[in-house]
Amino acid sequence: MNGREQDLKAPAGAVPCAGQSSGCERCEAMFRERFPILSRKVNGHPLVYLDSSATAQKPEAVIAAEARFYREHNANVHRGMHSLAAEATDLYEACRKRVARFLGVSDSMQVVVTSGTTEALNLAALGTAPRLRPGDEILVTEMEHHANLVPWFEAAKREGAVMRVLPILDDGRLDLAQLPALLNERTRVVALTHVSNVLGTINPVAEVAEAAHRHGALVVVDAAQSVGHMPLRFDDLGADLLAFSAHKVYGPMGLGFLVGTEQALADLAPITFGGEMIETVTLDGATWAEVPFRFEAGTPNVAGAAAFPPALDMLDEATLERVRTHEISVTANALETLSAIDGMRVFGPTDAAQRGGLVSFHDPFVHPHDMAQLLDARGVAVRAGHHCAQPLHRRLGVVATTRASFALTTTHDEIDMLADAVAQARSVFGA
Ligand SMILES: Cc1ncc(COP(=O)(O)O)c(C=O)c1O
Repeated sequence: MNGREQDLKAPAGAVPCAGQSSGCERCEAMFRERFPILSRKVNGHPLVYLDSSATAQKPEAVIAAEARFYREHNANVHRGMHSLAAEATDLYEACRKRVARFLGVSDSMQVVVTSGTTEALNLAALGTAPRLRPGDEILVTEMEHHANLVPWFEAAKREGAVMRVLPILDDGRLDLAQLPALLNERTRVVALTHVSNVLGTINPVAEVAEAAHRHGALVVVDAAQSVGHMPLRFDDLGADLLAFSAHKVYGPMGLGFLVGTEQALADLAPITFGGEMIETVTLDGATWAEVPFRFEAGTPNVAGAAAFPPALDMLDEATLERVRTHEISVTANALETLSAIDGMRVFGPTDAAQRGGLVSFHDPFVHPHDMAQLLDARGVAVRAGHHCAQPLHRRLGVVATTRASFALTTTHDEIDMLADAVAQARSVFGA
């Protein structure tokens, strides 16, 4: 076997991809047996979990590591002088280092631990606010999740800055032709998502970042839907700040990260104050600890931090290249299957290679909420609603969509089950 064949060989634990013709070696579902929840039933049917964009399921190694923390190491971090406190601190700091290594960041001090993407983006926006002046501009895109919109609205409101919006094209890609006209000497921030949680579109972040940097703007990237789904090195994106959540990367809830360049983090003001984030306190005031500790006031999610590295180990074992290949394969299948249904609107680029692992659709005969309920009755878990992207839904001309989203464990059989359940839902509505 040569090196290339070795590369393509399925990792241990791969499930043959039933929906593809035999001989297709590159699109296997991976590691399903490591996820205890995937063997349960829902409403009498095997669970078909297609809601990984909302939160990914957890492998046993993550569940066990969180339990082990509470059984064996539970203590607060950076405080106590006893052994348990030292162990807890080691686990917490090991997570920071592991995240840095996962994203190719050489210095783990560039990783701020937060409670999730939302908190990380609030820190980016409100921590940037004191540097804004009235009339300064913040550029966002029309496809942002509310987590990468509302904190910027708030920062702009506080400082008298102006919001600008890069629109999308009808095919769900950014209208990059409008970028030059939207960037100018007043642009202080460009905030954009790497992968849209509704359209699936993968945005050319490096290209946007390069243009933004020519105007001296800070580039903030919401990577909630890309980390763990595709090879991603922080430096390659060209961003100044990048946010993501552990729970969408097979890790625990209540844990996330803001990764930044040394300069971008040094320029940020802390937004949460109290214990752990200070250097000295007198009754007249306080000075801040070093980056990143100045952004981590109070007791963090230490158990979560202890449990996240096994999720990243699993992804390294699978390799992000294979995860990406598999998700493209499953997404292409879902796009083709759903688009073939008469009258179905399927949003975002038609080429799966230009998308992350999710597909949103709108059935003219079945409201998304009814669709999600009817699918659930057959064990198929999808999400319906505006997916925290109301401006985008307004642009698409619908109040809600149904979204199926994928993981390294998703099989082609599950896409077939989704299609069957959608057809069944239609028949319930007499369509
Ligand atoms: C693109 C995007 N950004 C931000 C978020 C918010 O993530 P969290 O709720 O983990 O803070 C999500 C969650 O769905 C998302 O999809």
